[in-house]
Amino acid sequence: MKILVVGNGAREHALVWKVAQSKLSSQIYCAPGNSIIARTARCIDISPTSISELIKFAKSEKIDLTIVGPEAPLTEGIVDEFEKNGLKIFGPNLMASMLEGSKIFCKNLLRKYLIPTAPYKVCYKLDSALQFLQNSIYPLVVKADGLCQGKGTFVCHSKEEAEKCVIDLMEKKIFGDAGNQILLEDYLDGKEVSIIGITDGDTVAIFEPARDYKRIYDGDRGPNTGGMGGFSPVPYVTASDYNYISTHIFAMLVHALAKEQRNYRGILYAGIMLTSGGPKVIEFNVRFGDPEAQVLLPRLKSDIVELILLTLDGQLQNSQIEWSDQKSVATVIASGGYPGKYETGSKIQDLGQLMTSKDTNIFAGGVTARDGEFYTSGGRVLTVQALGQTFEEAKSKVYEVIKKINFRNSYFRKDIASGI
Ligand code: AMP
Ligand code: GLY
Repeated sequence: MKILVVGNGAREHALVWKVAQSKLSSQIYCAPGNSIIARTARCIDISPTSISELIKFAKSEKIDLTIVGPEAPLTEGIVDEFEKNGLKIFGPNLMASMLEGSKIFCKNLLRKYLIPTAPYKVCYKLDSALQFLQNSIYPLVVKADGLCQGKGTFVCHSKEEAEKCVIDLMEKKIFGDAGNQILLEDYLDGKEVSIIGITDGDTVAIFEPARDYKRIYDGDRGPNTGGMGGFSPVPYVTASDYNYISTHIFAMLVHALAKEQRNYRGILYAGIMLTSGGPKVIEFNVRFGDPEAQVLLPRLKSDIVELILLTLDGQLQNSQIEWSDQKSVATVIASGGYPGKYETGSKIQDLGQLMTSKDTNIFAGGVTARDGEFYTSGGRVLTVQALGQTFEEAKSKVYEVIKKINFRNSYFRKDIASGI
């Protein structure tokens, strides 16, 4: 099959890497991909949200299956448009993708169908938001309604901090229209876990748990990022938590969406807080996580293309998803300054040589090549991932490789998979 992966980050690199192992794939394309993905896939210079250009390409190249990595094209209706043109594509449609496109939509749906999540207030006006903060209990979580690349959520420890965030979002519009409406949400105390599942709209299969490190600094301090590293499996997720998440969160949500005429087909990702009152939803995303994909896909023994085709045929109940028992650890190397301002164009020393290492994977996000050399071109530059019999072994493989990767102002967390 000719398979097109849409996106250009380390997550899409991991997807391309996994698709390349499928016995069903003959030729892989990536739009737009990046200079490292180009070693495995034919990279096509079309942006993930240039939907009509992607359709033109998929038709002319006779692509058999398109897999969408990031949320932006999904929330802009790429699946609906491809399907209208008779093209096979994997991901939720526009109506279902609103789950991630609007945090307010998601929270209202969770509340309507009694799916456990933190209590919240929706604010459409700056005045009412500031008023609500006067008598709130802190910490309190402030969230922009729309897409902000994982940076639109603020855990605020005081009224003053929350006021600043609300003003930044609603008045200064630091995330543009994404902050026109906001959520003010109770703080949930507990341990976090990412659960990613796949559904054909009826059957739901959840994957092995993964942990993502959202904050920029060691010890989970500093602002939220898209994700700075992770590991899988997650020993603190009990069998009873896992079953509850499967039945009371995933299955209930998929059936709720179907009832609302928003039939969901694709990857579904829940950020979950394991609280003393049981697992609660922090948010839903309509795609694989980044770096959760880089952490999980190397543990997936099943053929991902086969799994996707079964899902598209509504036959997920006939699938057997198999996982390696090995432990997986991944650490992101970012450009210094991320998630704020950062510079690009720094030369990455020796990357070409390291890419050939057998024990670890280096998944590339913000990397570009020029005259045979590699340069940074984004905030999260590389994800280094390894498997091991123990977390310690996987972790030491990751940090061994990271030691050898040098570029100006590089930054990574040193505590990924510590103290598990
Ligand atoms: P979100 O943008 O909703 O994925 O949130 C990003 C991160 O903020 C989450 O992964 C949590 O670490 C934190 N967070 C979000 N909502 C809450 C909450 N209600 N209570 C505690 N932490 C939260
Ligand atoms: N790692 C979090 C996300 O992909 O949203």
